[in-house]
Amino acid sequence: VLAVIDDGVVAGRPALAEELEAYARAHAARMQLVETLVLPGGEACKNDPALLESLYQRLRELAIDRHSYVLIVGGGALLDAVGYAAATTHRGVRVLRVPTTTLAQADSAVGVKNGVNFQGSKNFVGTFAPPFAVYVDPAFLRTLSPRDRRAGMAEAVKVSLVRDASFFVWLEEHAQALATGDEAALAHLCRRSAELHLHHIREGGDPFELGSARPLDFGHWAAHKLESLTGHRLRHGEAVAIGMAIDTHYSWRAGFLDAAAVARVLRLLQRLGFQLWDDALDGDAVLAGLDEFREHLGGELTVTLLAGIGRGHEVHVMDPQVVRASIAELPR
Ligand SMILES: NC(=O)c1ccc[n+]([C@@H]2O[C@H](COP(=O)([O-])OP(=O)(O)OC[C@H]3O[C@@H](n4cnc5c(N)ncnc54)[C@H](O)[C@@H]3O)[C@@H](O)[C@H]2O)c1
Ligand SMILES: [Zn+2]
Repeated sequence: VLAVIDDGVVAGRPALAEELEAYARAHAARMQLVETLVLPGGEACKNDPALLESLYQRLRELAIDRHSYVLIVGGGALLDAVGYAAATTHRGVRVLRVPTTTLAQADSAVGVKNGVNFQGSKNFVGTFAPPFAVYVDPAFLRTLSPRDRRAGMAEAVKVSLVRDASFFVWLEEHAQALATGDEAALAHLCRRSAELHLHHIREGGDPFELGSARPLDFGHWAAHKLESLTGHRLRHGEAVAIGMAIDTHYSWRAGFLDAAAVARVLRLLQRLGFQLWDDALDGDAVLAGLDEFREHLGGELTVTLLAGIGRGHEVHVMDPQVVRASIAELPR
């Protein structure tokens, strides 16, 4: 096993590398921990070609083979970047994921994707590679900044909106507890969100996204663009919250969603503490996100809107005027 740990996790739990080594010693008959690397987490690791290069080099020097494991302990960004390096080493070394952020526990770690950014283009390089195992421990979330604890909640709101109205109601009922970092509420949010994401991958009929639709990417066309427009000043989850607010308004303007539902969505996002406006929305730059989204998925443009709380609705055309009007309506 080669272990790679997010430096943010180590900052909150400095003994983690030693704990891992002690665990490996205690299980020496079954496992050998060859090295523990601590790498800088956060989006920067997905923007750094030198990081990949050094990972490949270390994997080779340590003779990690396809019967070895890369154990990744960290946020969604490090899981994506190191996961990509592992998936492309010897055409795929086994990966154990230990997600340590709300976002990674609620969404990305149970998924089948990895990737890095290329010249500012989000997730331009990456593979589909199911992990060998995922181990979720809510205790990791204790050391997260309030900002990162909150950001990942956007993915739970998202999946509730397109898949599970009763989960949305649960989020409404627990918004106050979630906003103040209540551990039990947060653990439930992550578990239910992960279940819904996993259910989609297993039962949705398109785990490797061969079609043009990505039903769980509600709010994501604008989110990805906002992340790059802001040079990743916005966290992925923060951008998703804004993207969902835009597409919720759009759903109403397009006649799929009633005004009461729009108000509930915006209110929940705001009660969780999300800002629904960012200055990067000034001007038309975000609109280019639609075309980039189409290109990333391939084929026909497919955007998921809402036909109700808990009900996604796919469209293949987005009217730029209506997008502009939806953006203009966001609470500043
Ligand atoms: N592969 C997928 O299917 C998928 C799905 C959704 C999102 N993503 C990607 O995930 C990334 C966002 O991930 P994220 O929201 O987890 O943020 P992140 O990985 O950028 O981490 C945010 C910060 O938290 C720190 N950190 C991580 N765990 C910590 C802990 N336990 N205590 C203290 N600090 C900790 C990190 O060092 C970093 O500074 C984006 O790049 C997004 O595109 C991937
Ligand atoms: Zn997302």
